[in-house]
Amino acid sequence: MIERINHLKEKMKAFDISNSETLENYRLKFLSKKGELTELFDSFKLITGAEKKYIGQQLNSVRIEIETKFNEAKEKFSSFKKSSHPVTDLSLPVSAFELGSSHPITNVKNEIIKIFESIGFNVAKGPEIEDDWHNFSALNFPENHPARDMQDTFFIDSDSSEKYALRTHTSSVQVRLMENSIPPIRSLMPGRVFRNEAVSARSNCFFHQIEGLYIDEAVSFSDLKQTLYYFVSQFFGEREIRFRPSYFPFTEPSAEMDIYLGTSTEQDYRLTKGTGWLEILGCGMVDPNVLINCKIDPEKFTGYAFGMGIDRITMLKYGIKDIRQMFENDSRFLEQFI
Ligand code: PHE
Repeated sequence: MIERINHLKEKMKAFDISNSETLENYRLKFLSKKGELTELFDSFKLITGAEKKYIGQQLNSVRIEIETKFNEAKEKFSSFKKSSHPVTDLSLPVSAFELGSSHPITNVKNEIIKIFESIGFNVAKGPEIEDDWHNFSALNFPENHPARDMQDTFFIDSDSSEKYALRTHTSSVQVRLMENSIPPIRSLMPGRVFRNEAVSARSNCFFHQIEGLYIDEAVSFSDLKQTLYYFVSQFFGEREIRFRPSYFPFTEPSAEMDIYLGTSTEQDYRLTKGTGWLEILGCGMVDPNVLINCKIDPEKFTGYAFGMGIDRITMLKYGIKDIRQMFENDSRFLEQFI
């Protein structure tokens, strides 16, 4: 045993610690649980008799030598060099780095996109400042026709003869898409739109829409109904829907779609004005005039379009009572939608 102790001592002395890497090797070889010192201590446990005391002393002194050499080298090579700064308490909790969260409208928009992507729709985008053609004329709003008053428009002062406005709906993107592509077209158009309306808890002067457009040979109203039914079942769960005749200059026939919420909760009652039904979107078959304006042959192709307000659906989903809350950037509000 004494021989083994002396042998270990020599090996330890001969071990050259020249950097932090060899320091670690030293620690593993001599000091770790599987190191040679532990091995000797294990053997020591088995020793009985008179020499145990002496062997114990020798073993301890080698242990001290090994540890001293280690600590001295550590002092030299360790990356935790002592600095002149006061020591930081490493056990203190870290100050959390706060991540932002996505906006509830973004969440709902992405959820809607995912549902339609699963049945073959892609996403198209367009500018928020539009000319008269893309926002109105191409969409079959005649010049000076009262239909233009349906959407109170923010016009932009400009010196040019071309009239520009903040787009009042994302249908303008439909026009751009149809002008620039050959059917079949199956796209979603999400985006911000602007209307000169009185700001209240229920309506704002800007909001978000998502529209859909499908143009191909032999697209029918039943395709539209089935697609919207699929969307409702995925987003709201199995619910009754109904279509009411409506009017939009760019679709014929046109409809508005309601979903049945019921009147069991106070909020449902208030939202549906006691009827149980809530209007979710406008839709219809694309008017042949719009196809002609966009250089698509209405004899060959038909299509449907639909459009819904993302903000209202977001309010419904999360029970948000005032639309303005969504645009105040109050982090106490936004943090709830992580
Ligand atoms: N653009 C219409 C609106 O803003 C919605 C709509 C889109 C209606 C497509 C029918 C078809 O009110």
